Amino acid sequence: MIRIRNVSHKIGPAPILHDISLDIPKGGITALIGPNGAGKSTLLSLIARLAVLREGEIHIDAMKIGEVSDRELARHLAIMAQSTHVSARLRVEELVGFGRYPWHRGRPGPGDRAIVESAIERFGLGPMRHRFLDEISGGQRQRAFVAMAFAQDTDYLLLDEPLNNLDIAGARSLMRLLRQMADEDGKTVVIVLHDINYAARFADRIVAMHEGRIAANGAAREVVTDALLRDVFGTDAEVSLHEGHPVVLV
Ligand SMILES: Nc1ncnc2c1ncn2[C@@H]1O[C@H](COP(=O)(O)OP(=O)(O)O)[C@@H](O)[C@H]1O
Ligand SMILES: [Mg+2]
Repeated sequence: MIRIRNVSHKIGPAPILHDISLDIPKGGITALIGPNGAGKSTLLSLIARLAVLREGEIHIDAMKIGEVSDRELARHLAIMAQSTHVSARLRVEELVGFGRYPWHRGRPGPGDRAIVESAIERFGLGPMRHRFLDEISGGQRQRAFVAMAFAQDTDYLLLDEPLNNLDIAGARSLMRLLRQMADEDGKTVVIVLHDINYAARFADRIVAMHEGRIAANGAAREVVTDALLRDVFGTDAEVSLHEGHPVVLV
């Protein structure tokens, strides 16, 4: 479980997160939604320790953020940040291989290579494994980054808007892969999603953020409502139900 207690965060003088307390249970997919600027990326960065936690506490299972070592954390939690800056002169298989670094620290063994192979296979990267990152499409690159996080083989996987740049086929196939990782491999996936319909369709629970606070938290049907669209997203788009899943009609 990721246990967040009384977390506040400022960037410079500007308050970004206000006294957030939230439990993200182990297993399944938790989607974080909310308008731009709500604080989703900031919260993810604090959990993954990409930003320094100054107020409040975050535990990942028994590990306390701020006390656990980088290496220990990297063996339990992988993050794909919203913007990824990695040299384009890197081949797909090298990028995926980086995911193993916290385990072998520069000396990959047969076990590391086997996991990289399975990540390449699972994410359909075989045909482009020798290509450079700037020689593949945005969607393929996105998949390669998720494959790197998968190769890290952590219990927790944090993904910040991984569907950006993906067309509908790419987005659905990535969400199905994440579903498989949660259902078959027992991973805990925390994913920031821009599109509420993907969250409602694929996630087990949804946390909505608004202006640095948690606005709603629960099953899709409890969270994705006309009231949420009005109060949090500031739109009068309507919610309909399709096979039990809420669907936002745009
Ligand atoms: N490096 C930064 N400097 C100043 N303000 C920032 C910085 N990063 C984020 N913010 C502000 O923090 C707020 C939350 O941002 P963010 O966590 O990226 O939101 P979200 O991911 O939900 O769109 C926004 O108001 C944003 O402008
Ligand atoms: Mg963001």
